[in-house]
Formats: sequence, structure tokens, C-alpha cells
Amino acid sequence: MSITYKDADGIQGMRTACRLASEVLDHLTPFIQPGITTREIDRLAADYMKQQGSTSATLGYQPPGYPPYPASLCTSVNHVVCHGIPNEKPLKKGDIVNVDVTVIKDGWYGDTSRMFVVGDVSIAARRLVSMTYDAMWHGIVQVRPGARLGDIGHAIQKFAEGLGFSVVREFCGHGIGRRFHEEPQVLHYGKPGTLEELQPGMTFTIEPMINLGRREVKEHGNDGWTIVTKDHSLSAQWEHTVLVTETGYEVLTLSAGSPPPPTFVQA
Ligand code: MF3
Ligand code: CO
Ligand code: CO
Repeated sequence: MSITYKDADGIQGMRTACRLASEVLDHLTPFIQPGITTREIDRLAADYMKQQGSTSATLGYQPPGYPPYPASLCTSVNHVVCHGIPNEKPLKKGDIVNVDVTVIKDGWYGDTSRMFVVGDVSIAARRLVSMTYDAMWHGIVQVRPGARLGDIGHAIQKFAEGLGFSVVREFCGHGIGRRFHEEPQVLHYGKPGTLEELQPGMTFTIEPMINLGRREVKEHGNDGWTIVTKDHSLSAQWEHTVLVTETGYEVLTLSAGSPPPPTFVQA
């Protein structure tokens, strides 16, 4: 499979799917409080997708070598890096949680995630969450025709490591369109001027996973999905789906509840 370039109709399809994914997160936001279980969050999301007329891309998703993914979204708490499976354990004050939603609408996929802090959290956790958001945006602002994927990875890595955090290497952003995971891979580390040149019509995700401690990760237990930090340090992640336009980028996974871009991003 190769990179797909979206025409005007494809871009409209992507805009709709991506907005709907972001609106699922808007809907969930007020519920993410101490005491709710991640399974309840999953149920709320499934109900809301039904109302939207979208379907979950993750439910039953089964890449080669994996068991079918059993939920409508991913919930990755504290030292869980990604692909956390919703469960019966209530969230508690001080937790940080990534909620990652991918919907399908009219055959198009929209993929986005945000971090949530549960009650009061430590200053270190808050800083990781907010700096990971900025790290994602340092990648996004690189996007324009003629730039290269290595420019995105480098910008994220330089920013995150400059703050003393580490960048997960084993998982990356990805092309997206009529399939969940397309080419290219979008690494969150790298060298400027290297890798694929960006061209208008490409759509891909930028979704850095940033750890407070060491960058190494491992599989957790035997569910076949959950990834945790090897040193059990906290991990944060944000994700947007972006379009390469003629002049720069358009963030597709935006909705009324999206946090504003950091101040370093030009309007
Ligand atoms: N949404 C994730 C991503 O950003 C993928 C989750 S796959 C699942 O690529 F099966 F774990 F849900
Ligand atoms: Co993704
Ligand atoms: Co995602």
C-alpha cells in the first residue's frame, strides 16, 4: 500500500469524520471525573457515536498478530502509553488519562486523542500533559508542501528532549483516509530534511507519546494491546489528524471543545 492523496471530495469526507471524532471527545469531557470507570467512558462514547451516525474504528480492529480490539476507544491511564483497554477500575484524583477516539463516517476515518487530568494532579503530571500538547503542535506547524516527515519528527524530539522528557519510538503517527493506518509512518523523532516530502492532499496523524522518565516501553500483561512505560513513569499523548494544504496545514480533528493552539502557533 502507498500514500493516498485526497481530492476535494475526499477532503470533505475527512473533514466530517475528523470533526465527529473530536465531538466524541467534547461529549465525554464533562464525565471524566474521579469515580467514573473507563468502561463507562467507553459506553458513553459508543452511545454517542450511534447518535452521530458514526462507527468506532477500534471495536474489533485486528492488525496482524493482534487479538481483536474489544472497545470503542482507548483509555490510557498514568504509565499506560497507548492502547489501554477500558476496564472496571474507577479513575481517581491525580490520574492523567488519554482518551483516543477513531470513528468511521461514510467510509472515512478520523483519529484524535486528548489528555484529561482527574481532579487535582501533581505539577509534574500537569507539565507533562501540557508540554506534550505543545510537542504535538511543534510537529503540526512544520506541515506544508515541500517539508519532509523528518522535519516533523525532529521538531517534536528537540522540544520534548529539551525539557528532559523522552519520546516513545515504537509507535508513530500514520497516514489515514479510507483505511485506519495507511502510509506513511509519521515518526515523532528524526532528522530535518529526511524522509518523505509532504504534498497537498496527504492526510496523516501526529500523535507523540512523551514519557516523564525513560523512553522504553513494554507490553503489559497478556491482553495483547496495553503498552506501558518500562520504568512505570507517567506518559502523555495528544493526537490530531492533519491535511497538507497548498500553503501549509489544516487541522481536521477540531470541534467546539478543542483546546486552543499554544500561543507560539500563528493564527
Ligand atoms: N487510535 C490509535 C491510533 O492513534 C490506534 C488504536 S488501535 C486500537 O493510531 F485497536 F488499539 F484501538
Ligand atoms: Co492514530
Ligand atoms: Co488515535
